[in-house]
Amino acid sequence: MNSDPVVLITGATKGIGRAIADRFAATASELHVVARNQEDLNAMKSALERPGLSVDIYCADLSKPEEVSGLVAALQDRLPRLDVLVNNAGVYLPGSLLEEDADNLRYMMQLNVLSHYEITRGLASVMPSGSHIINMASVASRKLFLGKPSYSISKHAQATMVEAFRYEFRPRGIRVTSIMPGPTWSASWEGVSFPESRLLNADHIAEAVWSAWSLPPEAVMEEIVIRPFDGDIE
Ligand SMILES: NC(=O)c1ccc[n+]([C@@H]2O[C@H](COP(=O)([O-])OP(=O)(O)OC[C@H]3O[C@@H](n4cnc5c(N)ncnc54)[C@H](OP(=O)(O)O)[C@@H]3O)[C@@H](O)[C@H]2O)c1
Repeated sequence: MNSDPVVLITGATKGIGRAIADRFAATASELHVVARNQEDLNAMKSALERPGLSVDIYCADLSKPEEVSGLVAALQDRLPRLDVLVNNAGVYLPGSLLEEDADNLRYMMQLNVLSHYEITRGLASVMPSGSHIINMASVASRKLFLGKPSYSISKHAQATMVEAFRYEFRPRGIRVTSIMPGPTWSASWEGVSFPESRLLNADHIAEAVWSAWSLPPEAVMEEIVIRPFDGDIE
């Protein structure tokens, strides 16, 4: 593992993405972070930048294919190399297949799957042997949650894509890890009736990501499933 890695994190300003950024900020030489809200990105840059660490911010809506392509082009120009790619941006929209807005599944397939696909393919050429791709999947990648079937569909697709990438990146010496968290405290859980302690803390996920990266290159954590001790919330 490189001791001062160049790291890219999508969906980095809040929740799990922000916790991962904070975890890597202590050692990374460059953090490249993506989200939609420019003010949050500016605030993050001010909070994390220090001598020895540059924080480059990219404002892009990854639910829009043209903005994903623009982001990939900008990163290809700007990145000398990339050691850690964290495809984290994703959204959960509740509903049922028969009743939900017909755009729900399309939106989540674009953001949760296709943006990761484009970014991974687009940046593969700047990732050296020894680098690491980490995708934020979910326990919904392996299990159907009846209150959010379209989310489960998108996360199943994402996990299968990551597995395929793992085989394709292996000859290049690049490790691929799928993180599958259970319910984790973030804005999407605001207003729920149970205590915050019933959910994972985003720092738990960041620690799992860090552990995966910290392993020597001859070992790979392929999948990490992490749940609250009391299990899922259906
Ligand atoms: N929280 C959970 O319970 C849980 C459980 C399992 C898996 N996950 C997965 O973990 C990942 C992060 O979830 P989270 O709960 O930490 O999310 P979150 O707290 O809602 O934060 C989402 C981050 O992604 C950015 N983002 C959202 N939509 C975007 C878009 N269209 N384009 C670019 N950036 C976008 C947000 O910033 P802007 O709003 O400024 O764009 C923010 O930085 C997702 O892939 C999610 O499926 C979450």
